[in-house]
Amino acid sequence: LFGGLEEQKPDALLALIGMCNADPRPEKIDVGVGVYRDSAGGTPILRAVKAAEKILLETQQTKTYLGSQGDAHYVELLRPIIFGDAGDQDRIVGVQTPGGCGALRLGADLIAKANPEARIFVGQPTWPNHMPLIECAGVKMVAHPYYDRDSRSITFDAMMDALNEARAGDLLLLHGCCHNPTGADLDLDQWKAVADLVARNGLVPFVDLAYQGLGNGLEPDAAGTRLVVEAAEQALVAHSCDKNFGVYRERTGSLFIKGRNRTEAGKVFGNLMSLARTMWSMPPDHGAAVVRIILDDAELRADWNTELQEMCARIRALRARLAAFDPRLAYIDGQNGMFSMLPLSKEAVVALRSEHGIYMADSGRFNVVGLSDESVDRFAAAVVEKL
Ligand code: LMR
Repeated sequence: LFGGLEEQKPDALLALIGMCNADPRPEKIDVGVGVYRDSAGGTPILRAVKAAEKILLETQQTKTYLGSQGDAHYVELLRPIIFGDAGDQDRIVGVQTPGGCGALRLGADLIAKANPEARIFVGQPTWPNHMPLIECAGVKMVAHPYYDRDSRSITFDAMMDALNEARAGDLLLLHGCCHNPTGADLDLDQWKAVADLVARNGLVPFVDLAYQGLGNGLEPDAAGTRLVVEAAEQALVAHSCDKNFGVYRERTGSLFIKGRNRTEAGKVFGNLMSLARTMWSMPPDHGAAVVRIILDDAELRADWNTELQEMCARIRALRARLAAFDPRLAYIDGQNGMFSMLPLSKEAVVALRSEHGIYMADSGRFNVVGLSDESVDRFAAAVVEKL
């Protein structure tokens, strides 16, 4: 049966974790996979999460099934965080998913089922798992320019030219904030231009909002998403709490979909239920239960907000420090979230690994917050030498 399978290369990003762990040098710098790190290099569990887990342990009465939609209250608590008080809420349905990946995959499966001819336009570069994950569902993807690594800037005109080719019903995969892998987000005027295009040409935004709160704060980080969702007749938003609650391995996501009207939204919900049933049946509970407890409790929610703001401030401070180190790194300060991309050749990236124990993705993407107060200048000096 399995003889015909082709060998697969390990996922390059996840392989970096193993490579870095295996490096015995104490001064190694892990700026690979996108997890938040504190100034000591750790990824501790948030206070609010620990407190919610205690409450969960003490008060949970049953572990019986919740159904394919997962924890409906968790989903409803996220709704205002993502959409604010935007109109048309009664046309938006939401379900819990196993992480942001699960949300993307469920959305892609729904698209394939609804219209096998639909295409998803996706800016380049993008998170390396985007294309395989969505193509796996059988949806055709169309790559278009987004960011130029060498000039360190968004190629907005080229992007809009390419998006003009999209037909009514085609989808635009958009990074809601904290663009992965570049850190280069659209500004509000650019989001407005995309929203206008969406409305004019009947396009369907598919927003990946995986880092809300880690760019400029919860509200500003949702501004672009809200603009395009409001402009669109139909839209999808894949959301993740894995990063902003630091519950990575708990796989805590959700998918929201806006239909043309309430009847269509209801039909979408039913289809999400039946698709989820065939993939994971029901999403894992723990992460969503923890997030629900935090968001439902004023004190825990305030504490989580404080912790999120601290994480965000640390990222911003590291960005400012890198930018101040050398004019060639100045662009990093104007970007958002965990990632930025260095215009380095693959050889340079590999050399940084062997010479300095610096572990970043082959693309030149690095996790800004993987740096510590001690390592940031060392990192900058090593990198600048290779630019
Ligand atoms: C990343 O891009 O590093 C994270 O989103 C982790 C992942 O799953 O790739």
